[in-house]
Amino acid sequence: MNPALRALKPYPMAELQARKSALIKSGKTVFDFGTGDPIEPTPTFILDALRAAVPAISQYPSVGGTQELRTAAANYMQRRFGVTLNPDTQILPAAGSKEAIFHLPLAFLDPGTNKNTVIYGTPGYPVYQAGTLFAGGIDHPITLPQQQGYRLDLSRLEPALLDRTAIVWINYPHNPTGACVDVGYYREQAAICAAYNILLASDECYQDLWFDEQAEPPPSALQATTSGILAFHSCSKRSGMTGYRSGFIAGDAALIKAYRGWRAAMGVGSPAFIEQAAAAAWSDDAHAKKRRKIFAEKYRVLASGLQQKGITVLPSSAGLYIWAQVPGQGDADVYAARCLEVGIVVSPGGFFGPGADGWFRLALVPSLIDCQRALAVWPK
Ligand SMILES: Cc1ncc(COP(=O)(O)O)c(C=O)c1O
Repeated sequence: MNPALRALKPYPMAELQARKSALIKSGKTVFDFGTGDPIEPTPTFILDALRAAVPAISQYPSVGGTQELRTAAANYMQRRFGVTLNPDTQILPAAGSKEAIFHLPLAFLDPGTNKNTVIYGTPGYPVYQAGTLFAGGIDHPITLPQQQGYRLDLSRLEPALLDRTAIVWINYPHNPTGACVDVGYYREQAAICAAYNILLASDECYQDLWFDEQAEPPPSALQATTSGILAFHSCSKRSGMTGYRSGFIAGDAALIKAYRGWRAAMGVGSPAFIEQAAAAAWSDDAHAKKRRKIFAEKYRVLASGLQQKGITVLPSSAGLYIWAQVPGQGDADVYAARCLEVGIVVSPGGFFGPGADGWFRLALVPSLIDCQRALAVWPK
């Protein structure tokens, strides 16, 4: 067995699912703020695009994806971020961003050399570490300080560590804290990565979920430069398509070419009918705007409801989460268990790695009415 598999801890979301099933079995009303899997229906025009694309004869999909999807993704990047990308050489479809994130070190890390380290922030999305370990790399989590807005700042790291590093993962709007950054931040990190020949991998799956329509939306790392950077985008949260498994990788043409080679060997092409639905989704901004308004409303109701109960909430301007402090500076696991007693599922900070003691995460998933019902029984 691969030693990485033997050492693997249970995936936190599987643990949450088990807790939720036990609650449902016991007949309790469940308010599931655990997994970031939205319940708002997928827009009808996306369903229609999928149905219209299901073929009479279904053949193997291509790893490069359909021209329609690559073009729709490139047009979206231009509209949304003002970044010009060649759809044929700078966009690569993915079967959801998770697999593309997990697989990246298998393509861009040589475990036999001393440039085999992957840096990522903690707390954070657990897949950066899992992908590193399965690729035989060395994982190097960096604790993200709350006082510095949970930013992964490469200028604070030792040059010797950066010399050994092949890939740096960044993710803003951040899961789990909702922290955000500006283009200046991306410029600084990109310059350091260029100096040390590091691939900068920017996980951008929450970019279209900002809370204040009048405010500046979250930027893409590709606004700093496309050189040496890959950005990972997803239909999942933007378009209510978590079950479709569709996203794309965008950026540096040489990196895209190399990654396409790895992906052809592995065979991760998405079905063309899924890609047609994804192309429809990336071609439309109105549905994304409607969806983010719903999440923004949930954020406002929950954040102010929790604060009224004396629970500290980290201010955030985008994403799908609320990052809150356990009342009375208590233990997050104990508090999550207390929440479960009243049917509320939350993720204790420890699910997202070290550096999150005393915090818990809420995913903006239950309906507004359920958010209000949950607040009525929320433990202090
Ligand atoms: C930070 C982050 N990146 C990537 C993903 C994966 O999204 P998907 O595989 O649905 O595109 C998630 C899912 O929750 C996430 O939180």
